[in-house]
Amino acid sequence: MISNGMEKIVNLCKVRGFINLSSEPYGGFSSCYDYGPLGVELKNNIKRAWWKEMTRHQENIVGLDAAILMSPKVWQASGHLSAGFSDELVECKKCHKRFRFNNLKPIICPDCGGELTTPKKFNLMMKTFVGPVEDKAAVTYLRAETCQGIYMNFNWVENSMRLKIPFGIAQIGKAFRNEITPKSFTYRTREFEQMEMQFFIHPDEADKWFEYWKKERMKWYLNLGIKKENLRFHEHTKKELAHYAKKGIDIEYNFPFASPTACLSGRQGRQGWQEIEGIHNRGDWDLTNHSKYSGQDLSYFDEESKDSYIPHIIETSAGADRSLLAFLVDAYSEVKGGRTETTKSTKEIEIVLKLDKKLSPIKAAVLPLVKNKEGVIKKAQEVFELLRNNFLTQYDEAGSIGRRYRRQDEIGTPYCVTIDFQTLEDNTVTVRDRDTMEQKRISIDKLENILTF
Ligand code: GAP
Repeated sequence: MISNGMEKIVNLCKVRGFINLSSEPYGGFSSCYDYGPLGVELKNNIKRAWWKEMTRHQENIVGLDAAILMSPKVWQASGHLSAGFSDELVECKKCHKRFRFNNLKPIICPDCGGELTTPKKFNLMMKTFVGPVEDKAAVTYLRAETCQGIYMNFNWVENSMRLKIPFGIAQIGKAFRNEITPKSFTYRTREFEQMEMQFFIHPDEADKWFEYWKKERMKWYLNLGIKKENLRFHEHTKKELAHYAKKGIDIEYNFPFASPTACLSGRQGRQGWQEIEGIHNRGDWDLTNHSKYSGQDLSYFDEESKDSYIPHIIETSAGADRSLLAFLVDAYSEVKGGRTETTKSTKEIEIVLKLDKKLSPIKAAVLPLVKNKEGVIKKAQEVFELLRNNFLTQYDEAGSIGRRYRRQDEIGTPYCVTIDFQTLEDNTVTVRDRDTMEQKRISIDKLENILTF
């Protein structure tokens, strides 16, 4: 790898249709982002991998899709409307930029060195109105974490699915926070997607399941190709613990940017290490509070022991956008131009996005080797038709074969399939592997096997 700066990732995302500013013709909006044709495929593949892991590979976990809008009482009970879900805001007296002030000593503005105001509490919930009258009674909030929808449905899911503790409920969906400093591309935004699983357990088993999920979640990132040296755990100090958590551990990725407020939060030493997922022991905080505020008993009755108790919760909470950013950064690599004889490259460097095949937006590209030869073009289109029903496939006949390979390398396509005169004779194609650049001749009817992973 020659270099791996964040600007290059942002540029690639824009140029190749992964991620763009929201409301771009208006100059963007409030650190919101849109996922383009390749971005949405990549994100869907990440979400699919997570869903499959939770609801198929793990035992006793079922899915849910709860509404984004919920009764505002949910947010009172959860503690999100009180000081617990606030960031401290400081403003530079000189340049008037605002920053999130996590803790520690008041120091100077990281941008201009100006003096900072004393920190003020700032609640992160996004307020909205339900119905035509914008008065106090109509106020509700866009959800700040998806898991509250899971707690609302705990009893219903348990009973309708006849689940026994320990069991889990998994959900993927949008969450919203009025972040003070939404920076570093899609790392911290005001609208984002979470992939959350709440595991309901007997209180005596909290430590065991916390350790289990900590290991399982780290394994998930490693199995999808993130380099081990770029991942680590960070255990929350008392000060860092969320208001609902008894214990918390982050899975951190070593991003090529430092936290924009690192110098304010005393985390200078941590450089690019930033959270991509939180694993929390939430104890009985959520179900106890919701029982109290709603009046509905959310305890669990164990048929065998005849024991009734409020289940404790171990939560795994991953960000779809943050993991996507980590997968992109980790996969981004540059190689010297002119990768092979056939590419005849004139560029000094070429980008190769070494995404895990399961995550790659496009699985194969079909490339006729010779242009203007009807037989070859026709055959290439036949192969494209054959593949595209089951695998997201691109057809490309524009430019030299080297340039077409490189276009696919840049977006992480694991296989390029070339069609030539020999294909017309013996129904074989050449399959080029993105990472090894090895080319193999195989018969067309074996293509689906290669692309099934
Ligand atoms: N239910 C627990 C919870 O929400 P969290 O640590 O606040 O815990 C979990 O958030 C994950 O959600 C984070 O690790 C991150 O991946 C993602 N996330 C949180 N705030 C985000 C933001 N402003 N922008 C993008 N992702 C965010």
